[in-house]
Amino acid sequence: MIIRPATVDDIAAIHEIEVEIEGQSDAASQETLIARLRLFPYGFNVASEGDRVVGYLESLRWDGFNFAQYGELDFQKQHNPDGIELYIHYLARTRRMQSSGIGSSLVRNSIGYAQQENLVGITLVAGDWDAHAGIPLSTFYEHLGFSVVKELPEWLPGHTGTLMRFDTSK
Ligand SMILES: CC(C)(COP(=O)(O)OP(=O)(O)OC[C@H]1O[C@@H](n2cnc3c(N)ncnc32)[C@H](O)[C@@H]1OP(=O)(O)O)[C@@H](O)C(=O)NCCC(=O)NCCS
Repeated sequence: MIIRPATVDDIAAIHEIEVEIEGQSDAASQETLIARLRLFPYGFNVASEGDRVVGYLESLRWDGFNFAQYGELDFQKQHNPDGIELYIHYLARTRRMQSSGIGSSLVRNSIGYAQQENLVGITLVAGDWDAHAGIPLSTFYEHLGFSVVKELPEWLPGHTGTLMRFDTSK
C-alpha cells in the first residue's frame, strides 16, 4: 500500500468508497470532491494498492476556527493555504480492508506533512457513529497521538462529535 496525492483520475474510485461508507444520499458528489481536491491538493491523499484506491483523507489549512456544528464549516471560505493548522475533514477506507492499517497510514502521512510545514497542530472531529468493535472512533485517534479537546454535543442532528487535536510541538 502506498500513500500519494489524489488526482482527478482517482475521484470516481474515491466517490465509490464515499458511497459505500456514507450511503448514496449523504455521499459528497464527484463535483464536490473535485472542488475540494482543487482547493487544497496537498491535503487530499489516497491510499492505493496497485492501481486500486483503497482509502482517502481530505484536509485543509486554516488559522483555527471555533466551530460547534458541522454546518458551520465552509471549506472554500475557511481554507487558507498559509494557515498554521491542518484540519482533517474526512478519512475513510473501503470496508473490505478494515483494520489493515490504511486509516492509520493516511493520518500519519498528514502528521508528517504538518511537521514538515511547521504547522502548530492538526484538529479533527471524531463522530459518535463510527465505533468499531465497541471502541469509539476517538480511541483510534488517541492511539495516533491526538488528545480530546472537548465534546461537540450538536455536531450533526442526533449525533455528537469529539473535537481532537494533535500538537506538533510535542
Ligand atoms: C476510521 C477508519 C478510517 C480507520 O481505518 P482502518 O484502516 O480500518 O484503521 P487501522 O487499520 O489503521 O486501525 C488501527 C486501529 O484502530 C482500530 N479502528 C479502526 N477503525 C476504528 C473505528 N472506526 N473506531 C475505533 N477503532 C477503530 C482498528 O481496529 C485498529 O486497532 P488495533 O491496532 O487494536 O487492531 C475506518 O474505520 C473508516 O473508514 N471508518 C468509516 C469512515 C469514518 O467514520 N471516518 C472518520 C470520520 S472523518
